[in-house]
Amino acid sequence: MQTVASGVAIIGSGSASPAASLDNDGISQVVDTSDEWIATRTGIRNRYLASPQESLTDIATLAGQRALAMANVTALDLDMVLLATSTPDDLFGSACQVQGALGAKHAVAFDLTAACSGFVFGLVTAAQFIRTGTYRTVLLIGADLLSRWVDWSDRGTCVLFGDGAGAVVLQANDCDRFLGFALQSDGSQNSCLNLGYQPKAQPLTANLSVSQGTYQPLTMQGKEVYRFAVNRVPEIIEKALFQANLDAKQLDWLLLHQANQRILDAVAKRLRIDDQKVISNMASYGNTSAASIPLALDETLRKGQIKSGDVIATAGFGAGLSWGAAIFAWGP
Ligand code: ACO
Repeated sequence: MQTVASGVAIIGSGSASPAASLDNDGISQVVDTSDEWIATRTGIRNRYLASPQESLTDIATLAGQRALAMANVTALDLDMVLLATSTPDDLFGSACQVQGALGAKHAVAFDLTAACSGFVFGLVTAAQFIRTGTYRTVLLIGADLLSRWVDWSDRGTCVLFGDGAGAVVLQANDCDRFLGFALQSDGSQNSCLNLGYQPKAQPLTANLSVSQGTYQPLTMQGKEVYRFAVNRVPEIIEKALFQANLDAKQLDWLLLHQANQRILDAVAKRLRIDDQKVISNMASYGNTSAASIPLALDETLRKGQIKSGDVIATAGFGAGLSWGAAIFAWGP
């Protein structure tokens, strides 16, 4: 196929949350914890949790529809639907269900699994397809329902996570607004954060067994993950800034994965970025994994705080371990 190089712009966003929420006093009825403990250590005060009737496909589709509306793009204009998630409704992937629900019948659709880095990895993946001229319009959705997979008796993890979805529309653009990125992985630290499959032998014949196990609830070594984030995230943002030929002083916004307010504060301090430029909404949503960055972006945009042309540094980090940063200017 003959392809033509193109600029990339991010032109619309949307988000969606489940109907029900649980604040810190509410979660104190589930495990032995308190609003004071959770808020001082993490900044989280509330989270939205999906009911058994709400699916990942439903909230991902709604976030996608809202992003399409803001971008003034129809589902039929889409060439690709990329769903960053670690909690699909179907282990074969949920992107095709979202594509079907949207009616995006010209779009190829697939899932991308990179935990809390999923949205940033997805941004870079989508940008490559546009950059090469292969596709013109891409819907990227970050969505996770970690409430399905946390251990609701483990106070060290269950208080941190919430469910949600966020989406952006990327489009080919004369002016290139996707300015730089850097991605990294370190599988040697994989055991710090897992949602692993536990095999269980099922004999088929006298000398052949297969594995018929299940996924086990999320486990996390909190202190290691904290140390990893505060060291690696500033580093990867610096790399992406270098590629963009920009300095941290030139950023209008710092948009990090919403894991912990203390991580946001430490990263901003290391990069010498003012608090007013740091986007934070984890108090209301908790850590929504691949959804957290587009959810926070969408909320800030809809408040009218981000202006066209504002330069945003975004960074995701989490299981893998994996981490990545991208620098872009908002709008066409
Ligand atoms: N309520 C009350 N007490 C608690 C709770 C809770 N919810 N959770 C743990 N504790 C207790 C522990 O039992 C322990 O008690 P002990 O001293 O009597 O044994 C004490 O508090 C300290 O526990 P730690 O786990 O050592 O607490 P820490 O100070 O490390 O804080 C935290 C935990 C907030 C999770 C911190 O390690 C952290 O923020 N890590 C980063 C985690 C993160 O950001 N994860 C997500 C990124 S990746 C992704 O998004 C998937």
